[in-house]
Amino acid sequence: MNEMEIYGVYGKYLPRVKEFVMNKIVEMNQTEILRKNEKLYEHLIGRVKTEDSMIEKCQRKGLSLNSKSSLTECKDAIGIRVVCNFIDDIYRVVNLLKQQDWCNVIKEKDYVSNSKQNGYRSYHLIVSVKTDFPGIEAPKNGRYFVEVQLRTIAMDSWASLEHEMKYKHNVKNAEQIGKELKRCADQLASCDVQMQTIRQVIHEND
Ligand code: GTP
Ligand code: MG
Repeated sequence: MNEMEIYGVYGKYLPRVKEFVMNKIVEMNQTEILRKNEKLYEHLIGRVKTEDSMIEKCQRKGLSLNSKSSLTECKDAIGIRVVCNFIDDIYRVVNLLKQQDWCNVIKEKDYVSNSKQNGYRSYHLIVSVKTDFPGIEAPKNGRYFVEVQLRTIAMDSWASLEHEMKYKHNVKNAEQIGKELKRCADQLASCDVQMQTIRQVIHEND
């Protein structure tokens, strides 16, 4: 199989579906600002998984290299990260996403309330997106899957640094480094709670 074909004929639509979803989230934010004068998030990023990483993932999971595996069995060909100011905002975005008519939440993992053992925190959603707009062809029931990760700025900085360093330490000191990283994650989580409390106090005085 030609490795360029992991997404088959659908590859060319992925950037547009990503843009579509990002625009919808931007609109949700504008609506919230008008309604409550409070933004939903600090920033938003999106990516389409490169063909090479998708091939690597399919091989790792023992899936055949075709568009069914890359777009239906794997559900993170399109990834969007919403980086929020406060913990509450993560849940505001999750609740709003559940009310949207252009997508359905089909899976969620709350690593914010239940952090991973290494200290990783983030809220993960898999949404299925209706793509019945002109010029888009979709693999299954007219839908694409998108992974949405929601985090605070503090959670995001920890995840970036941990990701950066994951590949750089050797097995000898891995345990010690893991403990230190966990401690940093917990300190940042405690700051997030304090920041949230400060905002609440400010609101009570409004
Ligand atoms: P995949 O099939 O590999 O996507 O695994 P999964 O479905 O079990 O995914 P999960 O929802 O646990 O994590 C998916 C994504 O979250 C990863 O691709 C990372 O971007 C991020 N992530 C999860 N765990 C960690 C972690 O420990 N550290 C960092 N930095 N990122 C993580
Ligand atoms: Mg993933």
